[in-house]
Amino acid sequence: MNEISYLRVSVTDKCNLKCFYCRPDNSEFVPHEEILRYEEIARLVRAMTKYGLKKVRITGGEPLVRPQLEELVKMLKEIPQITDISLTTNGITLSKHAEKLRKAGLDRLNISIDSLKPELFYQITKGRLEDVLEGIRISKELGYDPIKVNAVIVRGLNEEEALDFVEFGAEYGVEVRFIEMMPVGGELINWSEDKVQPLEQIKTKIEQKYGKLLPAISIGSGAARVYKVPKLGTKVGFITPISNPFCDGCSKLRLTAEGHIKLCLRTDEEIDAKPVIRNGTDEDLDRFIQKVLLEKEISNQKIVSSGYAFSDCRRIMTSIGG
Ligand code: GTP
Ligand code: 5AD
Repeated sequence: MNEISYLRVSVTDKCNLKCFYCRPDNSEFVPHEEILRYEEIARLVRAMTKYGLKKVRITGGEPLVRPQLEELVKMLKEIPQITDISLTTNGITLSKHAEKLRKAGLDRLNISIDSLKPELFYQITKGRLEDVLEGIRISKELGYDPIKVNAVIVRGLNEEEALDFVEFGAEYGVEVRFIEMMPVGGELINWSEDKVQPLEQIKTKIEQKYGKLLPAISIGSGAARVYKVPKLGTKVGFITPISNPFCDGCSKLRLTAEGHIKLCLRTDEEIDAKPVIRNGTDEDLDRFIQKVLLEKEISNQKIVSSGYAFSDCRRIMTSIGG
């Protein structure tokens, strides 16, 4: 039987920012009654542990806009097989939420920052960089470890900041990961190949300044290739879905806020799990998960044999959660 080790759970499609590559339009939000309740998410997670699920990442939209997120964290923490609970956030309101989430059992944080220049940060997000930095400082004090910072690098926009990000990582004690912009969201996000900054070039630039990067290990989903920067003692990661895909052997699933299981970021293939989570027996749910695992395997084979194409990715990233 196939295994699934990592589930990304989107708890809301709402976001308090408006980044052009993620939430480009004023699309409607999913109505409240369609959104899975925390008990329903926990039910699915519990059932998936039979098939190897160990790590859960909470995403959005922006997950911190959903009230009482700590209640979900507590429910997940009570499931013994779940050994890693993490959150991907834009960090804007993190300083308010970090402590209660930590107490509830949240292990790790990934925080998005695409520019260290307050004006450019505002231009990309319509938010305040200083709010995010404050969230990081507080989270460090609370003992979150590791804290990762995600920077989507868009050619012609922020690639000049790569070395600043590395130094920022060393100063704040966080692991910076550079990410290539993906064509998820169809025509809405205006993706084009020339916006993709191949990260190998960024790696070379870092090595020219700080010496050869040494392969390193970091807890996580395996999306990033991680290295130690010898002269600074910090780690950096490269997430290269375009220039160097990492799909082989993928055992990751995504759950959207309205309860659809998305098999892969590269296609719009999804399976509605809400009916069985809401109304099915435990046996129904178990059979459903077995079917999902089979579909995942088929989907993965298609992706690999298509040369890792991104096809039909009309759903915008904010309704997937990255
Ligand atoms: P860790 O658990 O710390 O490894 O986190 P992560 O990198 O899996 O999650 P995060 O939410 O921080 O995602 C960072 C970036 O990696 C986002 O742009 C995601 O869309 C992208 N990403 C994560 N997993 C995958 C994947 O399986 N495929 C692709 N193409 N991109 C991914
Ligand atoms: N390409 C690459 N990364 C993206 N993210 C959102 N949209 C895209 C995209 N089109 C990133 C965010 C966040 C993570 C959840 O996904 O910046 O770090």
